[in-house]
Amino acid sequence: MSTPMGFGRMHRKEDARFIRGRGGYVDDVNLPGMLYGAILRSPHAHARIVSIDTSAALAHPKVKAVITGETLAGLNLAWMPTLSADTQAVLATDKVRFQGQEVAFVVAEDRYSARDALELIDVEYDALDAVIDARKSLDPDAPIIRDDHEGRADNKIFDWEAGDKATTDAVFAQAEVTVTQDMLYPRVHPAPLETCGAVADFDKVTGKLTVWCPTQAPHAHRTLYALVAGLPEHKIRVISPDIGGGFGNKVGIYPGYVCAIVGSIVTGKPVKWMEDRSENLMSTSFARDYHMRGEVAATRDGKIQAIRVKVLADHGAFNGTAQPTKFPAGFFHVFTGSYDLRAAHCEVTGVYTNKAPGGVAYACSFRITEAVYLVERMIDVLAMELGADPAELRMKNLLRSEQFPYTSPTGWEYDSGDYQKTLQLAMDMAGYDALRREQAEKRDRGELMGIGIAFFTEAVGAGPRKHMDILGLGMADGAELRVHPTGKAVLRVSCQSQGQGHETTFAQIVASELGISPDDVDVVHGDTDQTPFGLGTYGSRSTPVSGAAAAMVSRKVRERARQVAAAMLEASPEDLEWAVNESGGAWTVAGTGAGKTIQEIALAAHSSLELPEGIEGHLDATCVYNPPNLTYPFGAYICVVDVDPGTGQVKVRRFIAVDDCGVRINPMIVEGQVHGGLADGVGMALMQLMAFDEDGNHLGASFMDYLLPTAMECPSWELGETVTPSPHHPIGAKGVGESATVGSPPAVVNAVLDALRPFGVRHADMPLTPAGVWRAMQGNPIRT
Ligand code: CDP
Repeated sequence: MSTPMGFGRMHRKEDARFIRGRGGYVDDVNLPGMLYGAILRSPHAHARIVSIDTSAALAHPKVKAVITGETLAGLNLAWMPTLSADTQAVLATDKVRFQGQEVAFVVAEDRYSARDALELIDVEYDALDAVIDARKSLDPDAPIIRDDHEGRADNKIFDWEAGDKATTDAVFAQAEVTVTQDMLYPRVHPAPLETCGAVADFDKVTGKLTVWCPTQAPHAHRTLYALVAGLPEHKIRVISPDIGGGFGNKVGIYPGYVCAIVGSIVTGKPVKWMEDRSENLMSTSFARDYHMRGEVAATRDGKIQAIRVKVLADHGAFNGTAQPTKFPAGFFHVFTGSYDLRAAHCEVTGVYTNKAPGGVAYACSFRITEAVYLVERMIDVLAMELGADPAELRMKNLLRSEQFPYTSPTGWEYDSGDYQKTLQLAMDMAGYDALRREQAEKRDRGELMGIGIAFFTEAVGAGPRKHMDILGLGMADGAELRVHPTGKAVLRVSCQSQGQGHETTFAQIVASELGISPDDVDVVHGDTDQTPFGLGTYGSRSTPVSGAAAAMVSRKVRERARQVAAAMLEASPEDLEWAVNESGGAWTVAGTGAGKTIQEIALAAHSSLELPEGIEGHLDATCVYNPPNLTYPFGAYICVVDVDPGTGQVKVRRFIAVDDCGVRINPMIVEGQVHGGLADGVGMALMQLMAFDEDGNHLGASFMDYLLPTAMECPSWELGETVTPSPHHPIGAKGVGESATVGSPPAVVNAVLDALRPFGVRHADMPLTPAGVWRAMQGNPIRT
């Protein structure tokens, strides 16, 4: 594959090290004299701590320290703030509030001794009743989970609403047809292959703390460490090395990170802590857990008029959800989806339960996955009620291209779209009419074939400073670009790749702006000492925000190059034209052909060439990009399934995905992102579930029980594209990293329920395991 000068397919630059086993992950960091930490975790979901005896563990010959909540309380570090401005216990002092909660931290000479010594710690618990079902959390007799909050009398975290209730209720009161459906988007886990961990190294002499940690947001972590621990921010360096997948799981600060830091301060040695798979699944941020009731009002001929939603959101024991401050339910209020409605209203109530904290945006932009699932299921429920074809119903109600920019009833301003074109392309690729004929024939023979459609709109690129912050930190991203004398460039960005190929695509952005090869651009990220401030990578914000910053800083450099070229050519800067041809970018005097390439300009910018007054030498620039709006990628997905009538097993036979993410920087990487997201969606729809028994015992703490999709469960994806550029993004790009995870679950579920139409089943909750499908076929689709 040849290297393009700018946008286009090219192999990922970072793969040179990944496929040779040369990636550098946190667990590869080994420092002289390093010690190892391990965490003792609660076996109970809810219990009072009566006593903790660490004496036997401390007597272990290889143990260097045992840290408890009491130790941390002495340092004022027993509790830390969460990303939702709640507090979370670093190590439990009073009670444990979920199974797997952190109780004590052992630091030892090696990993094995640290683990062994955990068994020597004697904790006496007084078990309490646990609240596991969110629907019972507000019962008057429910035990109070957060009695650390003074005066708290219930388990409610927040009530929040969006939209116009009065208008929505009025439309419903007069509607010709209404449908209502309860559904659960169950608790799932991002389950990155690399678990979380940290290496902390506090240097007592310099007072410098270095933390290696696979965080998606290194700068935000540094600032929070400074604010919480009272350490000077310039003395903290957070290094986020290669990351083996994040998907939202690596946004927040976990107790283990704080323990590793305290362990290093206490022992004076570097401390490494790496969690194992069960710890990752049991105690780090989950996603979803939204109990939703959707209602749609429509005319009898299928024009949707309003949508109304009530949500009970299970946030676990500490409200650790990650979303911009103003939005306790994230971006859920984008639930009107891709449709032209008159009115909408949602109410969300967040509650505490005795489960792990979190509620992260698992491969989506802050709860948009839940919103898209809700609206796309509701469209199918309405189609069933009306006896309408779900594709036709969507076509009839999708926003039309002339309505953009479009302000939704809950206040979102969608930037651009041509939804009908995208859905039509997906239907053409699928051969929709032929599929329906095939289905009809099969139904006559008793075979169960289903066709599911989902149309989604995402809202990614958080976000405009005036609307969005996380814990008071605005969501603008910095970029720095330096072009060396020989024309080779280094771009420094604040976002953090976890496998998305930023070292390639961000180099392509600079390359296309400066007319140099992407091979001549190095991208530096993941080190707070080396990169400008920014809020990191999640919610597909890298391309919309940091990618825009990369384009803008390149344009600044190009302008400086124009001034230098003018001095070289003894011409006026206004008379110069920028052009990129096969040999690269150059500033040329209009109409003369005389010009200077960017490489010649770079050398001259560092030379003794006399520059006009006010023009600095060298070729570099910085910028901070404050996005004017989010970008709104969208797509049309069609899934074809066959369901075994004897076992309820679902086979995804075909999956057609047409994505529109505006201008594609590297179509190969975009397709890879879509493949991954589709697989994720199949997993959530058919097999992934974080289940608990009624005492709060976690039933999915290994990959034997928490099932991830493999190639065996995935068809050969059929991808298509439309390109509707974002009008406000400097290169017209919209994010894409999470589109497929958002759009695919409802397509699969709609397909399975379409297959089950002969049984009259209107809805069944994910995951649609063979047992779940079987129950639905017996007319008993119980809630998960
Ligand atoms: O924030 P995150 O990197 O997860 O998501 P993203 O910004 O959507 O980007 C995912 C990958 O796809 C990055 O390497 C992007 O640069 C690339 N991409 C692209 O090539 N063209 C687009 N229009 C959007 C993303």
